[in-house]
Amino acid sequence: MKTYNIAVIPGDGTGPEVVREGIKVLDAAAAKFGLALSYTPFDFGGERYLRTGETLPESAIDELRGFDAIYLGAIGHPDVKPGILEKGILLKARFALDQYINLRPVRLYPNVETPLKDKGPEQIDFVIVRENTGGIYTGIGGATLVGTPNEIATQVMVYSRPVVERCVRYAYDLTRKRARKNTLTLVHKCNVLTDVGDLWVRTHKEVGDADYPDIKQDYNHVDACTMWMVKSPEFYDVIVTENLFGDIITDLGAMIQGGMGIAAGGNINPEGVSMFEPIGGSAPKYTGMDIINPLAAICAGGMMLGVLGEEGAAQAVDQAVYAALASGGIKSMSAGRMGLSTTEVGDLVAGLL
Ligand code: IPM
Ligand code: MN
Repeated sequence: MKTYNIAVIPGDGTGPEVVREGIKVLDAAAAKFGLALSYTPFDFGGERYLRTGETLPESAIDELRGFDAIYLGAIGHPDVKPGILEKGILLKARFALDQYINLRPVRLYPNVETPLKDKGPEQIDFVIVRENTGGIYTGIGGATLVGTPNEIATQVMVYSRPVVERCVRYAYDLTRKRARKNTLTLVHKCNVLTDVGDLWVRTHKEVGDADYPDIKQDYNHVDACTMWMVKSPEFYDVIVTENLFGDIITDLGAMIQGGMGIAAGGNINPEGVSMFEPIGGSAPKYTGMDIINPLAAICAGGMMLGVLGEEGAAQAVDQAVYAALASGGIKSMSAGRMGLSTTEVGDLVAGLL
């Protein structure tokens, strides 16, 4: 039997509740497909930070490297100053483990309400490949004269050709694998960011021309992309973009697919250890009430199986989520309005599996 060792970081707020349901579904998939999933919990998050001052120590990074994957609930605590946990845990893991792809599917399932009038599951089904370890997130830059009237601050959008190229190649491969519209849209702002934008534009073109002649190349400026995502989401197949633009447009993507309750993400190092998470936050006000939507965490678990190479199991999880929603038994994607508890949604999906 194939065994996978999964590091589990339930994290803060409702993280543990959604992870619990995700594991329920993962276990159902494992039973069906003859896999053994072994889970090792880690208590990183706001509570631990408040207790010990530790976020994600170096020793933990080394330990996490030894796992097949990481399954994360949510990080974020109302008593911790913004930035500490985000930088100390989430971004640290992404950078230290070189999880250079942030993969965020934007897919509208049946019976899920989208704010876009006249759009249904047929029109909303694309994937955003967000570069995850470069750009402004590298923190290169600095500040001077802080607190004076002439204060200056910079944070630089840093990209190297290799960092752009590995991301673009991943996106081309994914576009080919999806075999849908065979179109890879690069999103940037090359009319203003003429240096770093040009690096992305040339890489997208050169790699595409050389190795992916079967994939259509397309380009949108990021501002126009937000407009098209709302007006004509059916136009997109795969979008590849730099880190900050990806951060922004994936929240828009989450909304048009029905909200944070259903939006999953993967922080992927194709050659190393990847980390999967529901992309909504820790929702502290709903903690412990058994009303948070676990579908995003369940979908993230499904994505984890796919990246581990268990395509069949991944598809089965996705089909179970699809069937659970198609049944009409889940009334809304919002916490408290699902018509079912967190536990019941997990039971429903696991049962269908
Ligand atoms: C995300 C989040 C993070 C990001 C924050 C919490 C650092 O918004 O995963 O999209 O900006 O990447
Ligand atoms: Mn974000």
